[in-house]
Amino acid sequence: MTEKDFLPAPYQHFSDGGKVTWKAPSNIALVKYWGKLADQIPANPSISFTLDACATTTTVSYQKKESNTDGLSFDLLFEGKPKEDFKPKIETFFNRIVGYVPFLKEYDFTIETSNSFPHSSGIASSASGMAALSLCLMDIEKQLTPNMDDQFFKKKASFLARLGSGSACRSIEGDLIQWGEHSKIPNSSNFYGIKYPFEVNPVFKNYHDTILLVHKGQKQVSSTVGHDLMHGHPYAENRFQQAHENLHKLKSILAEGDLENFIKIVESEALTLHTMMMTSMPYFILMKPDTLEIINKIWEYRKESKVPICFTLDAGANVHVLYPESVKEKAIQFIQNELVVHCEKGHYICDRIGIGAKKIMDKK
Ligand code: DP6
Repeated sequence: MTEKDFLPAPYQHFSDGGKVTWKAPSNIALVKYWGKLADQIPANPSISFTLDACATTTTVSYQKKESNTDGLSFDLLFEGKPKEDFKPKIETFFNRIVGYVPFLKEYDFTIETSNSFPHSSGIASSASGMAALSLCLMDIEKQLTPNMDDQFFKKKASFLARLGSGSACRSIEGDLIQWGEHSKIPNSSNFYGIKYPFEVNPVFKNYHDTILLVHKGQKQVSSTVGHDLMHGHPYAENRFQQAHENLHKLKSILAEGDLENFIKIVESEALTLHTMMMTSMPYFILMKPDTLEIINKIWEYRKESKVPICFTLDAGANVHVLYPESVKEKAIQFIQNELVVHCEKGHYICDRIGIGAKKIMDKK
């Protein structure tokens, strides 16, 4: 599908207004998206586990405008209170997508949004936030285009979410989502995420992700700035190539349940992401001393115990500890005994692989 396929036919009717609510989860990339071209096109393909507990719930209320103004009109409430500093991001998003969802000009909107995790936790909410908002908008569009099928609904929600935040396009469905063109993955697309189309061993079907909150402050480098650093980066082309190769290698690893090689790729991807930031100009170190302590302890523990536990990182200091269901007790014990001391105020979040976003019905 191309971008044109997401332009709607003229709407059949306009309702006076209404209200929709969606809850969308966050996701954690195994092969990382880092670097992008114009219009939120990724520089390389990526793949992620959809999460479950870390999620954003968004309600969009809409009411037909009284006067025929052409501009976009919305209010934004975050956790019940007006949030002016979130507005520019939504405004940019709406301006980017208005051609694909022209009903945006017809209504006054109120967007109410809240996260299941504390905003100050240093966990990015842009993926779950943009996914939840995009699903609300698609829900409204579906009411204006009643014969829209479910597959198109999800695809376009992912397409819109990508225009808000790249990784958000991987937060519509579960449980393993791939985004970005790859020569050996049929139907892969730069425009939206797809369900991973190959065999996945049951060991990966109930994976856990315990998120260790090493540093809860604002991110030192926004993802926009970070992606930008890949332009003119001396190692960028090799990195993009490596992402293609790692995705290809994952095919047999995921099918066979090959945890040893899974760990190698996932940890290498995390360290490569940080290496790219350390070797860009300007350069950044986003890990903290506690991040390194945790990584070293995981390596030591894995070597001694043979428990297949590993880490991955976002563009920050927090550590995602990944492990299969079969070693859950041992892993939690190890995390509590050895790793929690490295978390700010001892805080961590127990999450696991999830099935994707869901509509929340109005309680009446
Ligand atoms: C390191 O999706 O936050 O988490 O498209 O600028 O909103 P924008 O970037 P964003 O980048 C996420 C980068 C990452 C890796 C990943 O999730 O693949």
